[in-house]
Amino acid sequence: MKAILQIEQVEMTFQTQKGPFHALRDVSININRGEFISIIGHSDCGKSTLLNIIAGLHRATRGGVILEGQEVCEPGPDRAVVFQNHSLLPWFSVYGNVQLAVDKVFRQNMTRAERHEWVMHNLELVHMEDARDKRPAEISGGMKQRVGIARALAMKPKVLLLDEPMGALDALTRASLQDSILEIHSGQHSTIVMITHDVDEAVLLSDRIVMMSNGPAATIAEILNVELPRPRNRVELADDGAYNHYRAEVLRFLYQNKGKQILN
Ligand SMILES: Nc1ncnc2c1ncn2[C@@H]1O[C@H](COP(=O)(O)OP(=O)(O)OP(=O)(O)O)[C@@H](O)[C@H]1O
Ligand SMILES: [Mg+2]
Repeated sequence: MKAILQIEQVEMTFQTQKGPFHALRDVSININRGEFISIIGHSDCGKSTLLNIIAGLHRATRGGVILEGQEVCEPGPDRAVVFQNHSLLPWFSVYGNVQLAVDKVFRQNMTRAERHEWVMHNLELVHMEDARDKRPAEISGGMKQRVGIARALAMKPKVLLLDEPMGALDALTRASLQDSILEIHSGQHSTIVMITHDVDEAVLLSDRIVMMSNGPAATIAEILNVELPRPRNRVELADDGAYNHYRAEVLRFLYQNKGKQILN
């Protein structure tokens, strides 16, 4: 597989009122096309900072991010982000929220009818076509996240960036959205980078789990290759020895690094 995204020696120092704060040091990883990467680590270790650098929302103090050979300098539709707290526009319908993104990106190269088809196709991918006329206030948190994912996918991003998209959901809603993300990943061959705090979620979805050391000056401490065949089924995996081994590895990492700074 070929790397679509190269993260090279990323350093991040924020200037704060109390002086410089060294958030990330020497973060490097190559991400392959079609790969599903999870980033896991204790709170405050710089996961969102790293994702925001990939998105182009923050500029790394040193090092950088290269997407298909081009350096990332600003946000763009080729790197769509979904945050934990759905960011839908409240006065637009479900359809309208996705349509807005599609019009922005594809007004020049799709007809109105094609754009309509494309909005509906993406709503279908997340099973939200029946709620197309509802407003965000009329749908549940899980449904809002589905619409956020549809909106992100509709921009045909080269990389989909998910910052704890299921963090605020109850367990059942979360499981159902995880299944949809698995379906989308296998059906669309999407390249996905997702932050999560949930060990089962990381193992179920990922090809690799990037485990970050605690901050300040956090970095990649370990990378776990999850070599479970796809398609993956959560019920079957619950009793699977390899699945439980991976799960135990991540738990061990998080437990060992609880509340302490790792020195290399
Ligand atoms: N704009 C900023 N200015 C100053 N410091 C910042 C800024 N953004 C983040 N930080 C600091 O960088 C560190 C990492 O923050 P970040 O939000 O990336 O952590 P995180 O791993 O995503 O945490 P969580 O799991 O709680 O979401 C924190 O100590 C945070 O206070
Ligand atoms: Mg965060």
